[in-house]
Amino acid sequence: MGLPQFVLRQLSCPSGWLAPFMAKALNRTNRDFNREVMSAVALQPHEHMLEIGFGGGLNIRHALEIIGDRGRVGGVEPSTEMLERARREFSRESTNGQLALREGRADALPFASDSYDAIISVHTIYFWGDINLALTEIARVLTPGGRLVLGVSEPEVCQREGMAKLFPVYEQQQLKALLEDAGFVDVELRRPREKDCYIVKAVLPTRPAHEA
Ligand SMILES: C[S@@+](CC[C@H](N)C(=O)[O-])C[C@H]1O[C@@H](n2cnc3c(N)ncnc32)[C@H](O)[C@@H]1O
Repeated sequence: MGLPQFVLRQLSCPSGWLAPFMAKALNRTNRDFNREVMSAVALQPHEHMLEIGFGGGLNIRHALEIIGDRGRVGGVEPSTEMLERARREFSRESTNGQLALREGRADALPFASDSYDAIISVHTIYFWGDINLALTEIARVLTPGGRLVLGVSEPEVCQREGMAKLFPVYEQQQLKALLEDAGFVDVELRRPREKDCYIVKAVLPTRPAHEA
């Protein structure tokens, strides 16, 4: 039967009076899977990490705990409500420069080229619109040798929940091919403990010495 369309629309961009409830629900429902994605990205304290579509902000908190005052965290969201909520929750880190929260979308990232060592995004790729453009943007913003980790629902789950009627769904091998077309290498598909989901990790090649 699937989820009602208004819930699917809220998942794609939480807004209005429902937004605070969506943030809490996302944090609760997606907590374990987000932990696994953070574990896959293996963020180090000196690194810069960006999250695309951070929703309720679980990974922003986790990343800030890891980096301490040595690294940097960025977040981008199209939802004004999610952005304002995160700005309130992380006002100290935003003010002291550890955290940069911006309004935007995966296909037009409001960040400089070569500015992040790692980028993660969980349960957002279905909403990216032009996925080729988004992957090109991600490759631009990552440093050479940087890594991308995506957390994605299995296509059957998207079909079951009615997502597939509104948004594109991606098979694992299809996503691997899209990543390779965008210039990523070492694409790994992982089956996490969280059932019905998969994790994709990919790396940008380092630049040859003559281009560095
Ligand atoms: C299903 S929620 C997932 C939130 C969070 N990542 C989690 O795992 O709980 C999808 C999130 O992606 C954001 N989003 C939607 N379209 C996006 C886009 N084109 N670029 C970046 N984020 C987007 C939404 O605003 C929403 O916060």
